[in-house]
Amino acid sequence: MKTITARAPGKLMLLGEHAVVYGYPCIVTTVGLYVSATVTLTNDHRLTISTPNLRHQKITFQKPLDEIGQDLSVETAFAEAAVAQILARAAAPTGLLVHTDGPTLSYGLGSSSAVTVAVAAACAHALGLNLTNRELFDLAYAAVLAAQGKGSGFDIAAAIYGGTIWFETAGKAIEPLICPELPFLIGYSGAKVSTRRFVDGVAQLRQRQPTHIERIFQQISELTKDARSALTNQEWQRLGDLLDLNQGLLDSLGVNTPPLARLIFAAREAGALGAKLSGAGGGDCMFALSQPADRQAIMAAINHHGQWIDLPLGVPGVQITVDDHTYNTPNRSPRSAE
Ligand code: PMV
Repeated sequence: MKTITARAPGKLMLLGEHAVVYGYPCIVTTVGLYVSATVTLTNDHRLTISTPNLRHQKITFQKPLDEIGQDLSVETAFAEAAVAQILARAAAPTGLLVHTDGPTLSYGLGSSSAVTVAVAAACAHALGLNLTNRELFDLAYAAVLAAQGKGSGFDIAAAIYGGTIWFETAGKAIEPLICPELPFLIGYSGAKVSTRRFVDGVAQLRQRQPTHIERIFQQISELTKDARSALTNQEWQRLGDLLDLNQGLLDSLGVNTPPLARLIFAAREAGALGAKLSGAGGGDCMFALSQPADRQAIMAAINHHGQWIDLPLGVPGVQITVDDHTYNTPNRSPRSAE
């Protein structure tokens, strides 16, 4: 029987987090931290998900097909929700054996979105659905909302389209950015956090302080718009200023933590042109904008206070391999949503 494997990358949020949940834009790039899903069709009318590497545990999960998507189990919620979306569109739903694999530690760099995209792409292919990138985005985003409740979808878009993208809430815009260089160093604070908790925390703050928080989001949006041209034109000093300003506004939202702040200040003191946290905050990663001459010093500063994560940036999006032949999903190039 044919075996289909899809592999999708993780992401690094560059600017615009939190505001992007409320209709504003963000800029995100991919990181070479991959999750794969291998799918085989079966005749047992069940979904079996096996994942050998999830937080150092081997998990095997089984459910009859007609219960897929209900009462998602915590460990395999994203994979199951992705299968549910695909099965709902399949002409002839059938049993599926889904084997996912990825890094044991993902540093908050997008393993949930990568697994969702990899599972959705592999299952769609196995079941003969010829999806465009936009269709894959819509299905995978619906799966994330089912598994996580909230989210802008930026990480799903990154995992599908790859490279560096300009993204607006729910995929209202998904545009490629041509970035000849991405001179960023990633630092891990040592703690992995729940995105949901911090998104909810900002939502509560927004309820208490609607006017002020809306103004902060608008300001984040202005910085993000400005950063788009600074990044593509390689105006590093200007981009560094914008990253630092964005960080200040994230501090005002209350999502920074002492370990992240230590990394951010240490990177700046070691010569970074700018540094900020990446993603929901509360832990996970930060990144620093580094000129070549300061790279070693900034890496050492990051390693002193946390962990430098050495991953390529701006890597291609999801790829499918069938019988040793690898190709991209149709309509690969990112574009504005129709
Ligand atoms: O914590 P991460 O890396 O999953 O990023 C969350 C980014 C938010 O803007 C806070 C939420 C979202 O879905 O856009």
